[in-house]
Amino acid sequence: MVTKLQPDGTAERPSNAGSAYTERMTSLADLRKSYERAELSEDASHADPLQQFEQWLQEAIAAEIPEPNAMTLATVAGNLRPSTRVVLIKGYDERGLSWFTNYESRKGQELAGNPFAALQFHWVELERVVRIEGRVHKLSDSESDAYFQSRPLDSRIGAWASPQSQVISGRSVLLANAARFGAKFLLQPPRPPHWGGYRLQPDHWQFWQGRKSRLHDRLRYTLSPPANAVDAPPVWIRERLAP
Ligand SMILES: Cc1cc2nc3c(=O)[nH]c(=O)nc-3n(C[C@H](O)[C@H](O)[C@H](O)COP(=O)(O)O)c2cc1C
Repeated sequence: MVTKLQPDGTAERPSNAGSAYTERMTSLADLRKSYERAELSEDASHADPLQQFEQWLQEAIAAEIPEPNAMTLATVAGNLRPSTRVVLIKGYDERGLSWFTNYESRKGQELAGNPFAALQFHWVELERVVRIEGRVHKLSDSESDAYFQSRPLDSRIGAWASPQSQVISGRSVLLANAARFGAKFLLQPPRPPHWGGYRLQPDHWQFWQGRKSRLHDRLRYTLSPPANAVDAPPVWIRERLAP
């Protein structure tokens, strides 16, 4: 498309630009769906949020929806600006949820400065969202080594080849790095010191199930000290939130 310039040098606005914009906005405003697939009740949910998560994750996997293991990870930088990206969950148990990445990436640097983070799964087809908040710790070297060695060879070389989140002059940098590290390590690349896992230990979970008429179900679980016993471990308090 050739952009016509006006006498002052700025681009001429097509005369119908405003109405096209309005049309686009109107059709976006009309995009809505009714959520009617399932419900989430106090009676039918688990008292332990990890079990609730396990059930929903397994249902998402069984439903064969695309990338049920993809989760959005939010971190906060030193200047208090939040940022998000998608990572893959690689494990979960009572200690938390884990993923792997480059410790020197933007997320790695932000977590080094502020270890609190949030995760979110959105299983669109099931009309479900899970939100998780807590403190993040690095996995042990042995845990990161074990997972690294389970990865396909090109992924292991890729961990060396990509200075994740840094500006590079072009794609050729990655290809040259991959060739260089491939030739150096052959079939046995060790885990790079800048690459490994993190685990978020939840102190806050939220389960959202879409419902009809925007009256969605939301159950929040918060880790709280037990009411009476001084030395007893914290307990999960389950509460319903308005949608
Ligand atoms: C489906 C999907 C899964 C991803 N999984 C990971 C992952 O497990 N680890 C990772 O470091 N990046 C993963 N990425 C890339 C990240 O979203 C992101 O681009 C990268 O980690 C750099 O983020 P940062 O600059 O905020 O640190 C994934 C991207 C997508 C779309």
